[in-house]
Amino acid sequence: KLLQTTGIAGAALLIGKASSYAMPIDGFPAERNPEYVLDRALTSEQDATTYTNFYEFGSSKNIWRKARKLNTDPWVVTIDGLIDNPIKIDASDLVKKLGGMEERLYRHRCVEAWSMAVPWAGFSLSNLVKFASPKPKAKYLRMETFFEPDVAPGQRQSWYPWPYVEGLTINEARNELAFLAVGLYGKALQNQNGAPIRLVTPWKYGFKSIKSIKRFTFTSERPRSFWEVLSPKEYGFWANVNPWVPHPRWPQDKERVLGGGMVPTKLFNGYEKEVAYLYKDKYTDNKRELFY
Ligand code: MTE
Repeated sequence: KLLQTTGIAGAALLIGKASSYAMPIDGFPAERNPEYVLDRALTSEQDATTYTNFYEFGSSKNIWRKARKLNTDPWVVTIDGLIDNPIKIDASDLVKKLGGMEERLYRHRCVEAWSMAVPWAGFSLSNLVKFASPKPKAKYLRMETFFEPDVAPGQRQSWYPWPYVEGLTINEARNELAFLAVGLYGKALQNQNGAPIRLVTPWKYGFKSIKSIKRFTFTSERPRSFWEVLSPKEYGFWANVNPWVPHPRWPQDKERVLGGGMVPTKLFNGYEKEVAYLYKDKYTDNKRELFY
């Protein structure tokens, strides 16, 4: 009957719609993990949700209204590359599978020399690596976001190498600090902060923390990040927070805390104890290689 009235295309459309229903991500507020403590006050929710970098929606900080246009439910995530069982899975099912939702208070330092401190909710990226079980040849994890120029006006600017791509070494991805966030301030992420799922690597400059991830690919080749393609001398692959290596256009030894004053920037954004082992072979006198 349906085929008679709507034709095959119409029926496919209906079926497509029915099978794409997904439950929203829930489990908020998540229990706080007491291991992650801050040395400063939490940034106000207002500041952290209205002063955001999301070039897909424009190069100003004030894009939160524009970002509302992005539909994040359903949100199919692909996990593929050097693994035995590539899958496509809705973000909400991925969260259920990888379990262990928790809240962590992290500092976040942008390469532009501002910083914030916020409560993320989510789970350790290492859970996803375990779940995917990459082959020994997989040395990197490449992450990619959406490409929807119809809803994201920045993506109509063809001089940018869309979609936004980021990458970590497999050992960085296995580090306990690397976090996949699905919530902020006890609620699901708002679009402007990278809904429904984003990376948070608090020892690296913020541009590594790719928002709204659609694809995780395990690979033997070092991925070329969005900002690295645009300007490799300014935005290195490693991008570890490093007060001794100035950006070519400004110093990096201090930062402006959103809603607060200036404070000194620390090596690895203060997470040296947790991550320094990853870069033992990269320590040099001027520590330059920790960034590039
Ligand atoms: N992810 C995507 N997809 N697009 C972006 O423009 N900007 C990055 C990062 N992730 C960006 C992104 C930069 S430069 C920073 S500082 C952080 O997101 C900012 O995260 P926040 O806006 O939630 O504070």
